Amino acid sequence: MDEFMETDYENRIVAPEYSPEDRDVELSLRPRRLSEYIGQEKVKENLKVYIEAAKRRGESLDHVLLYGPPGLGKTTLAGIVANEMGVNLRVTSGPAIEKQGDLAALLTNLNEGDILFIDEIHRLNRSVEEVLYPAMEDNALDIIIGKGPSARSIRLDLPKFTLVGATTRAGQLSAPLRDRFGVILRLELYTAEELAMIVRRSADILGIGVDEQGALEVASRSRGTPRIANRLLKRARDFAQVIGDGTIDADNARIALDRMEIDRLGLDAIDRLLLTSMIRNYNGGPVGLETIAAAIGEEAVTIEDVYEPYLMQLGFLSRTPRGRVVTPAGYAHVGIPMPGQQQLF
Ligand code: ADE
Repeated sequence: MDEFMETDYENRIVAPEYSPEDRDVELSLRPRRLSEYIGQEKVKENLKVYIEAAKRRGESLDHVLLYGPPGLGKTTLAGIVANEMGVNLRVTSGPAIEKQGDLAALLTNLNEGDILFIDEIHRLNRSVEEVLYPAMEDNALDIIIGKGPSARSIRLDLPKFTLVGATTRAGQLSAPLRDRFGVILRLELYTAEELAMIVRRSADILGIGVDEQGALEVASRSRGTPRIANRLLKRARDFAQVIGDGTIDADNARIALDRMEIDRLGLDAIDRLLLTSMIRNYNGGPVGLETIAAAIGEEAVTIEDVYEPYLMQLGFLSRTPRGRVVTPAGYAHVGIPMPGQQQLF
């Protein structure tokens, strides 16, 4: 069996996407105020100003678009904005709104000032999107009554509301939709230090013992993503209880993560497969995204949204106009000598 066949894509512990198993933990760990939210300093600073200003004017907040890789806390931030503004939050997602009527029902049930959070907003279909434009711009809902020559359109007033949209791909939003957001904020992968703070906060809430080095060990293998850090924290606790004294420290965390085949920097088998297949089959690039996708049996969008951001943050991969390239640091990490590179050892 080759390494590709052995890889379990579905149950990847370092997948940043939401899994139903994350539910209870995420609900209990979710910060409720901006002051509890760790990291994303630029986003927080700006949001704080917009929220304060809207509150002072007694107005609802402008529509907000949050974008960035999955698992960084977009839903959490929407909840925080609702709490800080003192309004209700309604949560839905692009694919869940199938028809114009679905969105009309959501909009007409909002109260003044409420926040409507639409996750994966880039997946809204066009006809639904068209209902959103007058709603965002004029707080109006245009509905067509009847068919054929006697059809007419009537306009209903909607309460003033704030749309918070979230997407992993701002580039895929249509221009008319993007232009209707007054505030556009990009979330970035967290640093290991920020994640270590998140791990310690989570451990505190869940009653898990972890020392500083243990937290940093879990954090540095969590690919810049709190959702992964919280998942690894739970698994590390299992090892700490069975092979240690119950407290997660650097030693038992290292053993736990090695056993899960998550390497020192948080790369798992699929990340390494991506790098090694680019090196072995395409001389390290430049190689097109679609070609890589076919080679490792993943979708191009998944590679772009999920794998690449972290590999690029580490400086293992770069995007060039001619395709993707594995960097010297990427070669070094998977232990393959770079052709033409002098061997130091
Ligand atoms: N849990 C998940 N993300 C978090 C964050 N940014 N701050 C605090 N706790 C979190």
